[in-house]
Amino acid sequence: MPLSIVILAAGKGTRMKSAQAKVMHGLAGRPLLQHVIDTAKQLQPTQLSVVAGNGAEQVLPFLEGNQVDAVMQTEQLGTGHALMQAKAAIAASEQVLVLYGDVPLTQVATLEALIDCVAEGGLGILTTKLADPTGYGRIVRDFDGRVKCITEQKDANPETLLIDEVNSGIMLLPSQWLLASLDKLGNNNAQGEYYLTDMVALAVADGLAIDTVCVEDDTEVAGVNNRSQLAALERHYQLAQAEALMTAGVTLADPARVDVRGEVTIGNDSFVDVNVIFEGKVSVGSNVEIGANCILKDCEVGEGTVILANSMIDSSVIGANVNIGPFARLRPGTALADKAKIGNFVETKNANIGLGSKVNHLSYIGDTDMGADVNIGAGTITCNYDGANKHRTVIGDRVFVGSDTQLVAPVILEDDSTIGAGSTIRKNAESDALTLTKSETRTVKGWKRPVKK
Ligand code: UD1
Ligand code: CA
Repeated sequence: MPLSIVILAAGKGTRMKSAQAKVMHGLAGRPLLQHVIDTAKQLQPTQLSVVAGNGAEQVLPFLEGNQVDAVMQTEQLGTGHALMQAKAAIAASEQVLVLYGDVPLTQVATLEALIDCVAEGGLGILTTKLADPTGYGRIVRDFDGRVKCITEQKDANPETLLIDEVNSGIMLLPSQWLLASLDKLGNNNAQGEYYLTDMVALAVADGLAIDTVCVEDDTEVAGVNNRSQLAALERHYQLAQAEALMTAGVTLADPARVDVRGEVTIGNDSFVDVNVIFEGKVSVGSNVEIGANCILKDCEVGEGTVILANSMIDSSVIGANVNIGPFARLRPGTALADKAKIGNFVETKNANIGLGSKVNHLSYIGDTDMGADVNIGAGTITCNYDGANKHRTVIGDRVFVGSDTQLVAPVILEDDSTIGAGSTIRKNAESDALTLTKSETRTVKGWKRPVKK
């Protein structure tokens, strides 16, 4: 059935005390609204719209980037009023699903269950039961358990306030009936707002079937109103990610100290130490060890690789049985072949490092193509930038570069060439030869160390 989804996101978010629009605050590295949009898209709606208002200057460009239609609500006169602004977006559909931009963790399966349970032409409400329902709209039922209406906290009498089943706000409505009935909403209530929840009593009066789905896990319908609630949802989300990794056969030193800000897959029998952060799209093979405080962003890591503590890997492809770190920084465009080794305080960027090649200590390797079985001595630097342009350094197979060498690009070190320590190489180095720059060792006899005055 043609479904349109409207995400309400015009509210103020006063309690965030922020210059940033509430729905743009991040959860697991993505704006709250992004979570809701991603969930909505999985339902394959024919039309997806977001009602924006407060913080529109931040929200509208974001929506454009997501190719989602925006509807403006310049004055926030209530959830019903918000939906009134979206009439055009609803017109071509048979059902409308209303979601909230500040309720990020609803599962697709839960929304599908709501859609499935609603009779044709009927109305569906996602509810939950809360030990403390304060602040929420209450689901009021008759003696037979049929929904009569939703009553907001501020409009409820003491008896209604005892009801523990609350409105999540997420609702499925029949489009044509909604379009014909929206203008019947009034604002004669405690908050002087047009309540979307009042549509329920109107639907009952019109004889529509009302169905409810009650979610067990109330974090699925929990909204973010302040930073404390945001942090609580973040922790809940992260623990769920950690559980999924453990279920897949990954050992976590502490499931409370790993953060997934994107999509990560890790093979079984891999080990993740504390305070590791995964960002973007990360895929890690089996039997990989990731040390404490590593950050892995948009990368692939082959099986059996060991990444020691405090290493950062960004937009790189790492082979199998590679050794990295501690304190290594792999910047975008790094590709390490199997069995390569990148040691401490080594930075790489746009660099292909061949099979079994080693860069063990204190180096910068940028814009480089390196063959197999190369040994790069400590402190070797590729001088890839002349102040205006970048140039490549090409290193063949089995090259040996002595420590503290500068390779001034563009330059080629042929297969089996050797570079003497402390050289500044500005010309190509030949195969099977030693290339070095002159720096003689001399002794100054009788030289005295300076003394303190
Ligand atoms: C609403 C429901 C309440 C439910 C609760 C769940 C109504 C009248 N009440 O109450 O039954 O238990 O959510 O969290 O619907 N918004 C707009 N424009 C507006 C007003 C709100 O876009 O003019 C958006 C907000 O950005 C937010 C959502 O609608 O995403 C809910 O608004 P909020 O003011 O938080 O509603 P509640 O009073 O919490
Ligand atoms: Ca709210």
